[in-house]
Amino acid sequence: MNKIPYETILDIRKKANIVDVIAKYIPLEKRGKNYFAICPFHDDHNPSMSVSEEKQIYTCFVCGASGNVFNFVMNYENISFTAAVKKVADLVGIKLDVKDTEVKKNKEDKYHNYYKMFDIVNKYYKNNIKSVYGKKAIKYLNERKITDDIINEFEIGLSLNDNSISKLLQEKGYSKDELVDIGICGDSNNYMYDTFRNRIMFPLYNLDGQVVGFSGRIYNGENESKYVNSKESVIFKKGNLLYNYHRAIKEAREKRSIIVVEGFMDVIRLYSVGIKNVVASMGTAITKEHASLIKHLSQNVILSFDGDKAGEKATISAIKELEKIGISPKIIRLEDDLDPDDYIVKKGKDAYLNHLNNALSVIDFNLMVKKENTNFNDFNEVSSFVSEAVKELEKITDPVVYELTLNEIAKQTNLDKETINNMVAKKPDKNTFIIDKRKKTKKDKYQKAEEYLVHYMLKDPKAILIYQDKVSYLENKKLSIIAMEILEFYEKKGYINVTDFTLFLEDKTDLINEVLRIDEEDLPDHVSDDVLLEYVKTIDEEILKNEINKVKDKIKTETNVQNKIELLEKLRVLKKKECK
Ligand code: GTP
Ligand code: MN
Repeated sequence: MNKIPYETILDIRKKANIVDVIAKYIPLEKRGKNYFAICPFHDDHNPSMSVSEEKQIYTCFVCGASGNVFNFVMNYENISFTAAVKKVADLVGIKLDVKDTEVKKNKEDKYHNYYKMFDIVNKYYKNNIKSVYGKKAIKYLNERKITDDIINEFEIGLSLNDNSISKLLQEKGYSKDELVDIGICGDSNNYMYDTFRNRIMFPLYNLDGQVVGFSGRIYNGENESKYVNSKESVIFKKGNLLYNYHRAIKEAREKRSIIVVEGFMDVIRLYSVGIKNVVASMGTAITKEHASLIKHLSQNVILSFDGDKAGEKATISAIKELEKIGISPKIIRLEDDLDPDDYIVKKGKDAYLNHLNNALSVIDFNLMVKKENTNFNDFNEVSSFVSEAVKELEKITDPVVYELTLNEIAKQTNLDKETINNMVAKKPDKNTFIIDKRKKTKKDKYQKAEEYLVHYMLKDPKAILIYQDKVSYLENKKLSIIAMEILEFYEKKGYINVTDFTLFLEDKTDLINEVLRIDEEDLPDHVSDDVLLEYVKTIDEEILKNEINKVKDKIKTETNVQNKIELLEKLRVLKKKECK
């Protein structure tokens, strides 16, 4: 693993004010001592994220996202901890020692040539399309209502009908292997040739916006496959990237939604009419990695696939993938089999916006698909439609949505509402209310003792020493790990404070969130030994109690007499301990 020394990280942290850094990403508003913002990590409508200049920490009191300046950049940009440290260092003008990032450098070096080659190729293609050879291609694009500005913005280029790329790259000193590796050239008995011939070239970018591949489109009415992609490589895996991700990240956060389309032409069209929170899967089915990237952009996902049957099928499978990670997307179905690009060209932006504003819920979409496949004159088909619809009704938790959907199904089938209602086994409880995540669950004395002890360990070496001396572990696994990390931090650095400790935890977001939650507990600043020892006693008692219960359970199921006797003896010793 690549490590930047803790001291360097600390140095950068001291120079980078978290308020200034976060303000570069989202608007902050000062209220009293702290700053507030709409939280970019969940679907927030009121400013729930606070940023403390004093502690150099951000915390969202709704979703619990929290951390230091590096965690913010890491989570916002979806980059590694090390990359985030580098980014923040850049912002405050600290040059990281080469030594600091040696390991990463090595890895980058390996691919460095690939990125450079793609850069050269991209410039070359872009140049071609502006030359005399590009006239026809430009005409084709303009006829498709793609303006010169958009051609520039999306770096659309042209490959020529020769082997000029192979020649160019070899002249620049790249090896034949490297040429083949990036999938732009082929090797035929040591003769290097260009893979892309006379196609309009669309660069494909990785999540950071670097070119890692190309897709080439025919434009002359040639009788060949419409698009050809450069082959996958170590830096280009179609299932791991979404077209336009690097541009959409900011837009999606601002608009608090992300539109997912199939083709990059759809992205380009939406973008050119000002709808910029859009990404494309580029014709492949939505993978698990895609789904998690999409979730990272926004929890509000709108699937806008092609209007044809294939688009419908792709939508069904994308819903499945998104639901696995807790996202229930909205769905747009365009009429006349159109894709979003053709739709906007034919019917205009407003017609598309109308679809966007009235996107279907998953349940409505499922019912619509079933409706399409049902012949309502056939009683058997109606019957199977109803049983499918009932399954959908059972998924609904909101009483109002339930009522509206029920009405819809009744209307569709000409059946009585009550008849359908009676078929539904699980109905939403009219009294259900949403439990506020902020609401603290009632904690028992033992949980409190664990948390409070760790709370003081985060600020007072005295508590750390008591833990080290008297406690071996905590029942709460997460807290136990945190306590161990604190011991290690204290041993290495000789001091403790929460902010610096979070630096030490680097990208362990889960632990950092827990640390900051515990730090927020409303407790007196100073604590006496007696109180700390009282926590230790409560913890000991609980551990002992659990141990006794475990032995008792074992005794119940143990059939071997000798073992049973041993267990009973163990129980006796434990009970004696308990009485002390
Ligand atoms: P246009 O016809 O130029 O408007 O493109 P489109 O976006 O309508 O393409 P389509 O819906 O047919 O396909 C969606 C995506 O699938 C494209 O953006 C490509 O990434 C990919 N794709 C389409 N056709 C091909 C093909 O023939 N080969 C490969 N490899 N990919 C394709
Ligand atoms: Mn199209």
